[in-house]
Parts: sequence; C-alpha cells; structure tokens
Amino acid sequence: MSPVEDYFVPWIKGVPMYISPHIELAWRNPNMARMMSNENPLPPPESVIKTIEKYARVANRYMDQGLIVRSKIAELNGLPGPENVLLGNGSSEIFDMIFRAFVAPGEEIIQQTPCFGIYKLRCTVVGGKLVSTSMVYKDKQILFDADAILNAITPKTKVIVVAHPNNPTGNFMDEKDILRIAETGIPFVIDEAYIEYSGINLERSMVKLVKDYKNVIISRTLSKAYGLAGLRFGYALGDRDVIMQIAATLIPWNVSTIAMWAALAALEDREALRERVEFNRREIEFYKQALADIPGLVVYDSYGNYMLFDGTDTGKPGKDMIKYAEQNGIILRGQEDIFGRNGWWRVTIGTHEENEKLVRLAHEFYAQ
Ligand SMILES: Cc1ncc(COP(=O)(O)O)c(C=O)c1O
Repeated sequence: MSPVEDYFVPWIKGVPMYISPHIELAWRNPNMARMMSNENPLPPPESVIKTIEKYARVANRYMDQGLIVRSKIAELNGLPGPENVLLGNGSSEIFDMIFRAFVAPGEEIIQQTPCFGIYKLRCTVVGGKLVSTSMVYKDKQILFDADAILNAITPKTKVIVVAHPNNPTGNFMDEKDILRIAETGIPFVIDEAYIEYSGINLERSMVKLVKDYKNVIISRTLSKAYGLAGLRFGYALGDRDVIMQIAATLIPWNVSTIAMWAALAALEDREALRERVEFNRREIEFYKQALADIPGLVVYDSYGNYMLFDGTDTGKPGKDMIKYAEQNGIILRGQEDIFGRNGWWRVTIGTHEENEKLVRLAHEFYAQ
C-alpha cells in the first residue's frame, strides 16, 4: 500500500499554505499602522455598509449569477453586457480561473519582476512553469521590458501577465508595448487592480483592447481604490466567448450575495470613490515633498496606493528601515534586493496621521 502522500499531484507536494505574516501581525496588534498590504486606509462608505446589513438578512439564501452587478460593470467599461464579465472572490481567484482555463502542467506563464506574488502561487497550483523576466533599471528608473517578455515566449507559453500599473514599482507599461504583446495572440492578462487611482473614469485602462483582441483579458478588484479588500470581490473583463469559456472553471456561488450587492453599491457610489482616489493622490504628493530632502533616498512616484523607496545610496539597507518602523508601530513591506541594490522598502498610503508619522520616522532613521 502506498502512503497517502504518494497520491498528491507532484506539483503541489511540499507546497505550504499561503500565509501573510505581516497581515497576521497586524490583526494581532490592532494598534500598529497597517501600511504593508495596499489596503485602503479609509473604511467602506455608508452606502456599502447599509447594503451589507441589508443582504446579511437574506444570507440563508443562495445568490443568482450576479447579472445586475455584472451588467453594471459592463456598462462602466463600455462592454456589451454581463457575458463580458466574470466574477471572482477577489482578483486572486480571477488569476486562478484564468490559469486553470489555459495552462496544463508543464506549460508556461510569463511575468515580469518585481511584481505581485499571486501569479506565482496560482501558477504552482496548476503545475505550470513560471517564467520570470526582469524589468530594467536605468537612470534610477525601473522600466518595463516588453522585449524581454517577447523573447521569453516559447511554444509552451500559455499566458502572459502584466500589472498595469505595476505593484510595487507604481508605473505603467507603455501602450505601444502592450499592443506588441497583444499582437502575439497569446492570452494576455492585464492586471488593473489599481487602475481607478489614475482616474475614476478609467482613462488609462486597456479595456478598450478587448474589442480588437480576443486574447486580452483585464482583471480588476474592489480591494484597492474601492476599499473592500476584506469583502473579496474581483472580476475579469474580456471577449464574451473567452470569458464564458473561462467561466467553466468557476466554483458555483464563489462570490457571496453580500459581496455582490455591496460591490454594486460601491460601483454606484462615485463620490466615495472620488474621495478615496483624491485622498490617495494628495498623500503621495505629501510623501514626495516631505522626503525629497533626504540625501540619497530615491522616492518613486506611483499610480497605485503604495510607494517604493530606494535608500541604497544612503548606505542603509531597506530592511533596517522596516525594522525601525516596526519598532515604532508601523508595519511596512520589504522588497528583496534587486538590480544589485539593498535599500528598498515599500509603503502603503495610510491615514494622513500615519503618513506624517512615517515621514518623521524616515527622517530619524536616515539621520542616525
Ligand atoms: C497587482 C495586484 N493584483 C491583484 C491583487 C489582488 O487583490 P485581490 O485578490 O484582493 O483582488 C493585488 C493585491 O495586493 C495586487 O497588488
């Protein structure tokens, strides 16, 4: 008799459950500032809370397939209708569904690093092979390298994924490069988790490509600008036939009734979204000004709700800054050494008071 371990599919053997130690730390220490997971520091608007309360009262019932919220999403994005929209339990589940639909064990997914970690995790679960290409570092800027992505394509490439804007670098890939990748015909996921921060009317979105490129799929989330990370609501946009085929992977009732209706309320509350986006922009400008006078610290502008800093030229490693902030009640996020530099650290925009405190701590730390 074989031990039960031998029955696991080989690609998940030994893969641990995903745990976010910094989020665990934050929930254990509610007094610490949560400036590490690109959450929205503002609580959900009243319109959403009221809807959550209303639908909590019918939580004994199964939901329908979300036609109303999917129609609203289609309308906001200039797409024909609900069949262009697939709902996920957060956009993390959207990547999972897309990879299940396109990638068989041993086939390849191309990403560009540094980037969000979920692509790797969900690639592992389907037995895919992750091909990481690197952004380029030039004149202190971190730039997308579409050629590196195009050169990495093989007959086994089944998905290419690019975040737009990217986490953690905060910048966009040029539209002409996005088009070069779209032209390959390979399923191309453009992760627009933060797109509303660059304009609530979605001016920078690549959703317009969906009409001409059946292989382009846009993923979105309400976890960021809409401020509903704990509610879990994400979606994919694309050609109707493609979306409906990916929908074969959908776990029935994957998005709760409460989340669907709360999402609709959030999507309809344009004022609440505007407030959050404007607040975020003001705070990013505040950081840029307040940290400009630290010699050797490079501050990266951002189209998201997070910023990247490089203190390598100050002579201080980024991990020491993160430790210093943590000792003083702020949880930040690290960035592993890249481009031969070790001064990186990242912040999620917090409340104004939290941002002021972090600016003070950064001045103290780099003056020591
Ligand atoms: C680039 C990017 N995409 C997607 C997500 C996933 O968000 P969610 O699963 O909450 O929708 C995140 C979260 O940090 C992210 O940074």
